[in-house]
Amino acid sequence: LTPTGAAGGADPVPPTIAWAGDHVRLVDQRRLPDELRILEVRTVDQLCDAIADLAVRGAPALGAAGAMGVALAVIGGHPGSEAGAALIATRPTAVNLAWGVRRALAAADPVAEAEVVAAADVAVNRAMGNAGLELVGPGASVLTHCNTGSLACVGWGTALGVVRAAHEAGRRPSVWVAETRPLLQGSRLTAWELGRLGIPHRIVVDAAAASLMAAGRVDLVMVGADRVAVNGDVANKVGTYAHAVAAHHHGVPFYVVAPTSTWDASCPDGAAIPIERRPPHEVLELAGTRVAPAESEAENPAFDVTPAGLVTAWVTELGVHRAPPGP
Ligand code: MRU
Repeated sequence: LTPTGAAGGADPVPPTIAWAGDHVRLVDQRRLPDELRILEVRTVDQLCDAIADLAVRGAPALGAAGAMGVALAVIGGHPGSEAGAALIATRPTAVNLAWGVRRALAAADPVAEAEVVAAADVAVNRAMGNAGLELVGPGASVLTHCNTGSLACVGWGTALGVVRAAHEAGRRPSVWVAETRPLLQGSRLTAWELGRLGIPHRIVVDAAAASLMAAGRVDLVMVGADRVAVNGDVANKVGTYAHAVAAHHHGVPFYVVAPTSTWDASCPDGAAIPIERRPPHEVLELAGTRVAPAESEAENPAFDVTPAGLVTAWVTELGVHRAPPGP
């Protein structure tokens, strides 16, 4: 994997996913923070399993994975469209997955297109980082949810990419990392990235966010998105909506940082966004050990929808939008 850092310098966070000539190499996010292990994926079935099990995750990373999955099918002599359908079915909410698949299917050379999609992701994220810089004042305390960093993308990050840009600009931001139950993308992944980047942070349980805001200890909330509807409603990791309600109540600005590839022109509003339901055991267990009574059942929606009315601004690679930019 080639570093995605500035001006040829090695990046403290390696690229999440890369095309390696005839296979895909990706950081196995299930093993972090304990182990930085690269997974080699050679078939569409293996890639579907890796996506479903969150070895690779985060909307922009899934966009690159979708395009690379079609590339894998084509070099294996299989129909790209069948592979695309199988890939899209693995995770229904993150629209970037379907976007990446469609990009590769529409291209004369899906392999080359997969590499273009991956390279463009880093450039787009850096553009969002620069655009969002105006929202992060000196010494700002930022609350974030899930993982929107380099690991959720090919490199750099969306919401966390803005924080990183602010850090590099000398604004000394600090981050409240919501742990993000049930799979802990906050405490496992975001905290790991921030540590490698040298950005001060503290992990809190998701339910602590509202009282931190009440105490005046959060200057702004910044999150990513898995799909944004035309009216600006935002699907993101479950728990995001609760942060938005609390932020609205306490007058804390709530920003969504997501590239235009996450905006879905076919979704008029949040009600039209499919919400992924994941297995109940993710809720009933902690680190693989059952903690709930044997007879209890669970529901496990992986995402929720934050209404546009609770969003202060949306950041895309085109700039900061105080109203939904539209299709
Ligand atoms: O289930 P995940 O870990 O794939 O969910 C990811 C998120 O909810 C992120 O916030 C979203 O993809 C934006 S990432 C840049």
